[in-house]
Amino acid sequence: MSELRIFRDDKPGVRERTLTDGSKIADALAAEGILFERWKADVELAPSDSQDKVLAAYAKPIDKLKRAKGYVTADVVRMVPDAPNRVEARQKFLKEHQHAEDEVRFFVEGIGSFYLHLGPRVYQVVCERNDLISVPDNTKHWFDMGPAPRFTAIRLFSNPDGWVAKFTGETIAESFPPFGE
Ligand SMILES: [Fe+2]
Repeated sequence: MSELRIFRDDKPGVRERTLTDGSKIADALAAEGILFERWKADVELAPSDSQDKVLAAYAKPIDKLKRAKGYVTADVVRMVPDAPNRVEARQKFLKEHQHAEDEVRFFVEGIGSFYLHLGPRVYQVVCERNDLISVPDNTKHWFDMGPAPRFTAIRLFSNPDGWVAKFTGETIAESFPPFGE
């Protein structure tokens, strides 16, 4: 289930709040300038479906999002628990970083966890199927897919060139509870 867990950034062992209701999660994140919406991921995908097939299956909501929010391109990230690159893929965004472009994800299968470092707090957003999240540019964050990752997320971009991770060099991510362990 989608969940928002709020911590102080200097007290990773103490959860201040936990929200599981979709609209309450959306409200709490909106107060911080983060877009979180529930869309409908109602297509059953086959494990062998290609990126193009996933994009075709969700062409309608993708077009709607592009028109509504100005995204120009979309692609697909798909991870399965026995993927040979799962350790490397998990490590890639596990340290605190920022992008010059919004990080927009529509989860159409599975689950994964963002950690957003917002002022003195860390908002852990466990996203799952149906969730759309947009992490604004320059927001400090990290993403944990867990040791046995299973998710399919459609990524939307307004400027794909801007989507390069700039690491902050901080070790904060290591002190927070990892996802899925
Ligand atoms: Fe990121």
